[in-house]
Amino acid sequence: MGIPFAQIPDGGMIVGSAGDEDVVLIRRGEEIFAVGANCTHYHGPLAQGLLFGDTLRCPLHHACFNIRTGEALRAPAFDPIANWRVERIGAIVFVREKRDAANSGSDQPSKESRRIRSALGALRSVVIVGGGAAGLSAADSLRRNGYAGALTMVSADDSPPCDRPNLSKDFLAGTAPAEWIPLRTPEFYAEKKIDLILKSRVSSIDVNRKLVGLESGKQLEFGALLLATGAEPVRMEIPGAASSQVCYLRTFADSREILAKAATAQHVVVVGSSFIGLEVAASLRARGIEVDVVGREKVPMTRVLGEEAGRFIQALHESHGVRFHLGRTVRGMNGRQITLDDDTRIDADFVIVGAGVRPAVFLAEKSGLAVDRGVSVNEYLETSVPGVFAAGDIARWPDPRSGGRIRVEHWVVAERQGQTAAVNMLGFGEKFDAVPFFWSQHYDLTINYVGHAEQWEDAELDGSFASRDFGITYKRASRVLAVATASRDVQSLQTELGMESEGWAAAELS
Ligand SMILES: Cc1cc2nc3c(=O)[nH]c(=O)nc-3n(C[C@H](O)[C@H](O)[C@H](O)COP(=O)(O)OP(=O)(O)OC[C@H]3O[C@@H](n4cnc5c(N)ncnc54)[C@H](O)[C@@H]3O)c2cc1C
Ligand code: FES
Repeated sequence: MGIPFAQIPDGGMIVGSAGDEDVVLIRRGEEIFAVGANCTHYHGPLAQGLLFGDTLRCPLHHACFNIRTGEALRAPAFDPIANWRVERIGAIVFVREKRDAANSGSDQPSKESRRIRSALGALRSVVIVGGGAAGLSAADSLRRNGYAGALTMVSADDSPPCDRPNLSKDFLAGTAPAEWIPLRTPEFYAEKKIDLILKSRVSSIDVNRKLVGLESGKQLEFGALLLATGAEPVRMEIPGAASSQVCYLRTFADSREILAKAATAQHVVVVGSSFIGLEVAASLRARGIEVDVVGREKVPMTRVLGEEAGRFIQALHESHGVRFHLGRTVRGMNGRQITLDDDTRIDADFVIVGAGVRPAVFLAEKSGLAVDRGVSVNEYLETSVPGVFAAGDIARWPDPRSGGRIRVEHWVVAERQGQTAAVNMLGFGEKFDAVPFFWSQHYDLTINYVGHAEQWEDAELDGSFASRDFGITYKRASRVLAVATASRDVQSLQTELGMESEGWAAAELS
């Protein structure tokens, strides 16, 4: 059955179905496209996203798809959405057979892509240090872009690359099963010929001889190298606490350890009142566990979101039964009792420390790479040593919008940097200019944040916290640095798009 062409608004989308699958019909002038209705990341409803040129952007975490081919152009989605052939007969549009994602981009290889393909042969081995967001997306991108040489990923984690953001959210709350946590199946690594070495730490990099040394003594040669060692939780001494009573959360194993302890716990103290600490608090409350949060800040999340938003988030957690001890630190632990610096005593079966992270730059420093509060990279994400790239939480890169160098700890940024570093190993010469984006989830509230504002002069609130429908625009010298939103996904996407188009032009002006 077809649909009248006139029913699809120009520049708009409507949801329909083809067989038993949901489809988004998109009209651009006289052209109609039909693609899968759900994002391949977390099934976000794409019809509620944003269309721009040949792309459709997901409202939840800003993945980007090509509407002609269904191809996933940008993380956090990697797999294509379905796409169907569309036929217009008179005034009626028909969705016909599904197209093969790999074959639907029918363009002949350009001169440039032929040049790159011939350069591909020159690169014989790539080593990726780190099995996280940046590492996996780089490996995926290398294979997707035709690299056929040796590809080794070394990870200190004991499990394959996992959905780290989920570890403090649905997995910890008990609403996401363990099977959802690995980002890829074991077959993926076998099919793509990615040699994944787990539970192994790289201890040295000889950049002159192009050799990576593992703690086990094994050595790996590389033609190009990606450092994606991420960040490590800041450790904290709690006098009197047994080591089994203090947990950190970075890996799948950490999250499983917390879950095992939570199974019999009644009372947990979370030290740290920023994103991970508060997400953990929300997840433990969902399990009916008593939670006290101890934080140095007077108001949680002030540094990132500002005081007003911080108070709102604090009140949200309090309404779910979380107790806050702000402006306080832990003095010690005795048995099942925590003492704070003001002598307050709190019961705790165990403590989870979420006191921030430090970029894992030790290896880079030891190898003689330029390091300045992160591994310094250029706009192509190449370090001070040609052929050695860095991406993710460790990378400090030139931000095209501010003109300065920044380093962030965001999932989507790490994945997009992995993609850019990979194509640059293959000689694409692509500048990393994606706009920083992160999301954070607290109960049924998700905050999306686009841009980067370390310091701002004005934080303009539009909407209201009470309605949980708001946008906060962070500005300095009248320039928009970042926008945080709740229940305003399209505004968040539009902001990202606007900042994208500022791109390098803004940097050149500043
Ligand atoms: C619980 C939790 C929740 C989060 N939630 C969000 C969120 O909601 N939104 C968001 O934007 N961001 C979130 N983040 C942050 C996000 O996960 C990180 O920004 C992202 O994982 C960074 O990716 P990466 O590849 O740089 O590092 P990672 O993903 O940490 O990967 C680093 C890898 O390097 C390995 N490694 C380190 N040193 C060595 C070595 N010497 N040899 C071998 N391997 C080594 C590690 O074992 C690991 O495999 C969250 C983080 C955590 C921990
Ligand atoms: S659900 Fe689409 S980007 Fe996450």
